[in-house]
Amino acid sequence: MKKIILTGDRPTGRLHVGHYVGSLKRRVELQNSGEYDKVNIMIADAQALTDNADNPEKVRQNIIEVALDYMSCGLDPNKSTIFIQSQISELCELSFYYMNLVTVARLQRNPTVKTEIKMRNFEASIPVGFFTYPISQASDITAFDATTVPAGEDQMPMIEQTREIVRRFNSIYGEALVEPDILLPSNQACLRLPGTDGKAKMSKSLGNCIYLSDDSDTLRKKIMSMYTDPDHLKVSDPGKIEGNTVFTYLDAFSKPEQFERYLPEYAGLDELKAHYQKGGLGDVKVKKFLFSVLEEELEPIRAKRKELEKDIPYIYEVLKKGSDDARQTAAQTLSRVKNAMKINYFDDAELIRAQSEKYKAE
Ligand code: TRP
Repeated sequence: MKKIILTGDRPTGRLHVGHYVGSLKRRVELQNSGEYDKVNIMIADAQALTDNADNPEKVRQNIIEVALDYMSCGLDPNKSTIFIQSQISELCELSFYYMNLVTVARLQRNPTVKTEIKMRNFEASIPVGFFTYPISQASDITAFDATTVPAGEDQMPMIEQTREIVRRFNSIYGEALVEPDILLPSNQACLRLPGTDGKAKMSKSLGNCIYLSDDSDTLRKKIMSMYTDPDHLKVSDPGKIEGNTVFTYLDAFSKPEQFERYLPEYAGLDELKAHYQKGGLGDVKVKKFLFSVLEEELEPIRAKRKELEKDIPYIYEVLKKGSDDARQTAAQTLSRVKNAMKINYFDDAELIRAQSEKYKAE
């Protein structure tokens, strides 16, 4: 079986380092590994509209931001198909049929949807489109016969939902759809990178994000005001590592060789942690190290972005080409789905022949 990737992001803002370690960095590695027959990267504008229906301009503006973030991280339109969800109308058609295979109760149990409903204070006024977005996500994934979805932990319930839809579809209509697997980050700290305030998730509305496109000064300021151990008041106090955002970020980003470069007095992260726990290591020193570590990772991305920003029409050209390509793939899947569901009346000569025989016999 072919190995195919599909993944994507909602264009509701610039991408942050949580996106980066959760999925983006991995995608670039997978793209360059040569192990995949096809890599599809989708800007999920239609999904973004499910809870931003009254703010289409926000979604529209952020398409280019996300595309710039993608390409500055190394997603390469010569190797990956980068496209815009709304331009593939076949996805809506698939969703319409998948809706028959999912119950309202099942959607209500989806943990990600549950949390998001709470976060957005929807209560009784949940838009139907938002409520059903896990179904539309199943269309995104199956339309491309994706075997692999590199994504963060929060996407697990979506992939599970997709797998259920695929199994149900295949058992009713015959094997037409491919069951995908999620590919989670292998580093525990990257599964769900906390915000700079220590809150569980980086989110634009909480104002606790470090963006890939933040300049050096902004990055420094954000790191210097990061949440650490609130009881670690004096340098000599023993400090806690658990729930200490600066150390979680070091877990996610630091590489052994960076100790030699910036903190040669420590053999590695374990030794730094031990010193902090014992007492005698100040937050500022650890934060300065984190700044050097992140700066090393983000500076090349920033520089590439500056280059790409010089030719915006080219970025739109890339997205248009990607969308044209994606539409062709999705159309093939849709046709396979309609055949399986027996709603292919006009290209089924056998159906027409059998029906006319039936009437002749009467
Ligand atoms: N739900 C994803 C997010 O919030 C975006 C998305 C839409 C997606 N369709 C997808 C991710 C299909 C993976 C696969 O970022």
